[in-house]
Amino acid sequence: MEVKTVDIKPVAGIVSEYSDDYDSNLIAILQQSQDEYGYLPKSVLKEISRLTEVPLTRIFGVVTFYSQFTLIPRGKHAIKICNGTACHVRGVDEVKESVKEHLNVVEGETTADYQFTLETVACIGTCFLAPVMMVDDRYFGKLTTDSVTDIVKEYSN
Ligand code: FES
Repeated sequence: MEVKTVDIKPVAGIVSEYSDDYDSNLIAILQQSQDEYGYLPKSVLKEISRLTEVPLTRIFGVVTFYSQFTLIPRGKHAIKICNGTACHVRGVDEVKESVKEHLNVVEGETTADYQFTLETVACIGTCFLAPVMMVDDRYFGKLTTDSVTDIVKEYSN
């Protein structure tokens, strides 16, 4: 995957908003930084550490503890394919293979054009629609290998 150069200049602006107490505002600083970059590049974490004097090991500890944070680039759209029992029984594996082949990624990866990140998740609570996936906040059910590629194409533009 092509690695984009990260401009760390916005970090100073973000950090300065929390200058009253960096330590207790660390999560807010990280959230705002992730909003800015779409993920938390290592160079950004180092800059946060330099500016706030919070040790980099502590920052990494927070980032890896909370699932809301990610250290890898994310796509514009998040595809979450359900891996729960009902979806499994109703053929989600074929659906998943179809998406992987179409996007040329494996689970956990982001496409080279940064359009999609593919994940599998536990039951998302709509088993009656199995097999199910989400694209961003939208649910798609009763998926087939054909319908799933049509849905992904719809989001490709
Ligand atoms: S098992 Fe897939 S939605 Fe419940």
